[in-house]
Amino acid sequence: MLVLGLESSCDDCSAAVVRETPAGPVLLAMTRKSQDELHGPYGGVVPELAAREHLLQLRNVVAGALAKAGVGLGDLDRIAVTQGPGLVGSLLSTFSASKAMAWRERLPWVGVHHLLGHLNAARFSAPDLPFPALALLVSGGHTHLYLARDWTHLELLQKTRDDAAGEAFDKTARMLNLGYPGGPIVDTCAQRAVRPAAPFTPPKFRDGKPSWSFSGLKTGMKLRIQAVPGLDTAGADDPRVQALCRTLQETVAAWLMKPIPGFRDETGARSLVVSGGVACNSELRTQAKRTAERLGLVLAIPEPRFCTDNGAMIAAAGARLEPAADPWSGNADPNLPLVPVPAPLQESPWK
Ligand code: KG4
Ligand code: ZN
Repeated sequence: MLVLGLESSCDDCSAAVVRETPAGPVLLAMTRKSQDELHGPYGGVVPELAAREHLLQLRNVVAGALAKAGVGLGDLDRIAVTQGPGLVGSLLSTFSASKAMAWRERLPWVGVHHLLGHLNAARFSAPDLPFPALALLVSGGHTHLYLARDWTHLELLQKTRDDAAGEAFDKTARMLNLGYPGGPIVDTCAQRAVRPAAPFTPPKFRDGKPSWSFSGLKTGMKLRIQAVPGLDTAGADDPRVQALCRTLQETVAAWLMKPIPGFRDETGARSLVVSGGVACNSELRTQAKRTAERLGLVLAIPEPRFCTDNGAMIAAAGARLEPAADPWSGNADPNLPLVPVPAPLQESPWK
């Protein structure tokens, strides 16, 4: 089965052609147009600019992926697109275009939940993953731990109480004037540190429930930066900046790993998936490997290009879902809930 996957829920516009085989998904081609330069001056994604840019980029991104794969729209077996969650303007352009393309060719069409995409990114390297799996999906917008019964069914175990972990990276880079996007820059800077700065204490909650919180960590970073005059403009070559970055990522990785042993015992999970943009982080990858080995869990962390938002993960998830029986009625949804897999497809969906 040949699937075109489209993803534009935030600031990246990506298309991929994936061949779904009995041995798992195979990537034939992927294109991605980043908007880093556009949003860089603002230190974060400007939703209106992102939406307009997607409209301009989409045509080339899709044409590029099809050309690289050596196929035309008519050769596809289905089109999969991110339906939500995300920025509504960013979602809408690609969502509408995907329906138009599917309608033209009378192709099955499937809307994909963004987080199911991040989970399915792991299928490229671990198609035979043993389930149930603990799925830590961690990005600029999400820090969620799910129990995955299989590639399409997720049950929420725990999520952040406030900010996503990616936000701590992005805001720290902004406070230190290191550039945009923050995560990869903080990661590179941290790897140059000879030693970390003093550790941060994990937050404690009155109800005693396990959960994550990253807004306090952001404030903690702010206070430490303000305490040292000139640190905010010292730059990535300064050892004090490097030490702070290293502490930040060691803290985030340790906090993210903390609930894994308890949930492994509670759920009987056999594997651990770590995916989403923050799963590119070198320290998180190291700590996840250590945790999985200690607990005897099979670990699946996608290659970095499949961790950040990309069309391949949407194609891989879309290949496992039933196409929409009535594609006309679905709409892009910035708060799309994770719902059970829809009913099987009728004849032609395009009435
Ligand atoms: O999954 P993603 O591409 O988009 C969302 O769905 O949000 O994740 C983007 C997030 C950003 O916060 C970015 O700073 C972070 O992933 N990120 C990283 C690294 N690479 C990307 N965070 C830490 N270390 C990295 N190497
Ligand atoms: Zn994402």
